[in-house]
Amino acid sequence: MEKSAIESADRRHAAPAGCALEQWVYVSRSRLPDPALVKPLLATCRRNNRRLDVTGCLVYTGEHFAQVLEGQPQTVQELVRRIETDERHQDCMVLTRRGLTIRQYPNWSMGYVFRADVSDRVRDLARCRQVSLDELDAILELIQPDSVMGEL
Ligand SMILES: Cc1cc2nc3c(=O)[nH]c(=O)nc-3n(C[C@H](O)[C@H](O)[C@H](O)COP(=O)(O)O)c2cc1C
Repeated sequence: MEKSAIESADRRHAAPAGCALEQWVYVSRSRLPDPALVKPLLATCRRNNRRLDVTGCLVYTGEHFAQVLEGQPQTVQELVRRIETDERHQDCMVLTRRGLTIRQYPNWSMGYVFRADVSDRVRDLARCRQVSLDELDAILELIQPDSVMGEL
């Protein structure tokens, strides 16, 4: 059985205590049999995340997911715990869990990115899995939902 994504995150990047907001980033391997199934998945994300005051962005490459989740620490932790058991993906690996002072995706209950350049980087991430925070931040710079496709 794979190690829990939560355990790995706690081990590698425990966020400083007392931060009002946390950001988690993970990658996973998609098990969606049909890319069209991303649409209902996003609808669920957006409905729930608005209620939970969680923001972020989902990248889908056809083969992998990468997701950024931001919000109140316990809320995001519980959400990741739920997401990692979802059978629509597997091999969920948290790349970072860190404190935030301001959200990177304040306007997105769940933005969506499906772009070739981003997909290439996410594939690399999923393969090597050990990235420095600088490298990860460079990739996050690319993960900007555009206002049309973002609403898929
Ligand atoms: C790649 C991926 C990302 C997900 N992201 C979220 C999310 O951001 N928010 C959310 O509520 N559920 C997300 N889910 C779905 C959850 O695993 C779970 O199905 C959902 O929260 C259940 O909500 P419901 O009880 O309203 O159907 C995601 C699932 C997958 C496979």
